[in-house]
Amino acid sequence: MKKIKTGIKGFDRLVGGGFPEERTILLSGTPGTGKTIFALEYIYNGAIKYNEKGLYVSFEENSENLKRQAAIFGWDFNKLEKEGKVKIMDISPKEVKEHTAKDIVNMVKKHNYNRLVVDSLSALAINTPTLGDITNITDVFIRRFLYHFINDLRKTPSTSILISQTKDGQLSRDGVSEFICDGIINIRYEGLGGLYSRNLVIRKMREVNNDEDIHPMEISQKGLVIHDL
Ligand SMILES: Nc1ncnc2c1ncn2[C@@H]1O[C@H](COP(=O)(O)OP(=O)(O)O)[C@@H](O)[C@H]1O
Ligand SMILES: [Mg+2]
Repeated sequence: MKKIKTGIKGFDRLVGGGFPEERTILLSGTPGTGKTIFALEYIYNGAIKYNEKGLYVSFEENSENLKRQAAIFGWDFNKLEKEGKVKIMDISPKEVKEHTAKDIVNMVKKHNYNRLVVDSLSALAINTPTLGDITNITDVFIRRFLYHFINDLRKTPSTSILISQTKDGQLSRDGVSEFICDGIINIRYEGLGGLYSRNLVIRKMREVNNDEDIHPMEISQKGLVIHDL
């Protein structure tokens, strides 16, 4: 099985060398835990180190802000975009249409992106018009939507990170994507006065004998570093 390396310091060893190719990984955590930074680094390293094309679709922040955040770590996304190696796309909540999820799948297929990030799955689902009137996020329509979207992504050539904004103790916002996705990475924030306040755990990685320990996560000047306890 081909492995897709994140290139994030200390991470790939936890999943046997990288993500299983063409799979879908849920990256969940409460706000400010570093999910967006993780996903940006995944796309950046893909283009720079492994010659893989990446698409980042954001429903949370506009692309200029994302690029500015990335530039702080020395990741020049403007250059990569000019070279056609990555695309950072923002879609504001009011621009989300019923077919937006399908459009993402089709874009990945058409342009052969090897890596995809959806930031966040929660925002895409909540703002999809046919689902928008539903007050209960665990509603059957949301579940059906997620099943279809994640299954459609499986049929594309991309290895995808889907971000889920959670509350403490949850693995996903909707309560179902953790079952559908092939892998789950959970980042927790615990400001206990130690050196690092963020912890990363691999909760699931199908077909991989993954590490199950809790790992302190550092946001360094050059990006993320996953440490051992
Ligand atoms: N250059 C930096 N050095 C250290 N920490 C940073 C840096 N830039 C951002 N952060 C931290 O990362 C957090 C934002 O991470 P982000 O990936 O946007 O979170 P999430 O997407 O999980 O909500 C900020 O709240 C801040 O604590
Ligand atoms: Mg974010």
